[in-house]
Amino acid sequence: MDYNIAGQRVIVTAASKGLGRAVAQEFVDQGATVVINSRSEENLEAAREHIEANVDGDGSVLIVPGDLSDPEVVIEVFDAAIDKLGGLDTLVTNHGGTTRRSFEKMTTELLDETYESVIKSTFLMVKKALPALKESDGGSITHIVSTSAREPPRNHIPSNILRLGIYGLSKSVSNEYGEYGVRSNCVGPRMVMTDRIASIFEDDAKRQGISVEEAKSQHVDSLPLSRVGDPQEFAEAVAFLSSDAASFITGTSLAIDGGWTNGAIL
Ligand SMILES: NC(=O)c1ccc[n+]([C@@H]2O[C@H](COP(=O)([O-])OP(=O)(O)OC[C@H]3O[C@@H](n4cnc5c(N)ncnc54)[C@H](OP(=O)(O)O)[C@@H]3O)[C@@H](O)[C@H]2O)c1
Repeated sequence: MDYNIAGQRVIVTAASKGLGRAVAQEFVDQGATVVINSRSEENLEAAREHIEANVDGDGSVLIVPGDLSDPEVVIEVFDAAIDKLGGLDTLVTNHGGTTRRSFEKMTTELLDETYESVIKSTFLMVKKALPALKESDGGSITHIVSTSAREPPRNHIPSNILRLGIYGLSKSVSNEYGEYGVRSNCVGPRMVMTDRIASIFEDDAKRQGISVEEAKSQHVDSLPLSRVGDPQEFAEAVAFLSSDAASFITGTSLAIDGGWTNGAIL
């Protein structure tokens, strides 16, 4: 779907694979100039090749590698990205995910590590992006978080404790920067098919001694839509939130989860 975002200058972090790459592809297809980031330059080059090989529009893709769990690197990556783009209209924050861990086995070391890679890095990304977004004619931030941060499942303690903070960060920024036309929203994926989800099915299958298909069914059969999501479906929702079609939507969150979130009011 065309959301009229051609010409936007966009940063998508953690975007060499999975959801981040799909979002970058969608923006490039719609004519935006997109900087993608991840730790590995090799993965980023492969992502750029993939996006350019599949492009269905006249946008372009640039790469800025860097490990966003290191605060100094976040600053370097954002300086370089905004410089390459000559400004910024849209930021999509994403990160590499959190470790699955029960409270019983949770450690203060893992708590600190998750704080650095999830909260501190997102805080710094937003700090670096806001001056440029204020200059834009309608800047937008979309945070890729997780539906599980809103309905904390067992065995996801790092995510359950820390990802929740991104919702607070996003809401606070929407309150403070609305007067500059900057919007900030969160999206919560669940069971959108990526390498990460494939490895969750494989791990569950191994742990329980069942087939990968059976493990997949355990996750998917209870979803109202009874299927996994396609990254393209996810990316279109992010493009919508970043476009003028969503110009009165800020400070909120959207679950993109096949109906997994079990609340009448989100
Ligand atoms: N897919 C879903 O349904 C789902 C559900 C709930 C939550 N999520 C969350 O959404 C996010 C993306 O998920 P995904 O399924 O797309 O995962 P994925 O396919 O594993 O992709 C993760 C991406 O993050 C990059 N990355 C990892 N660590 C990084 C770091 N320190 N700095 C910069 N980039 C980094 C990876 O590239 P490099 O290896 O090149 O760094 C890769 O491009 C994760 O936080 C995940 O927990 C996804």
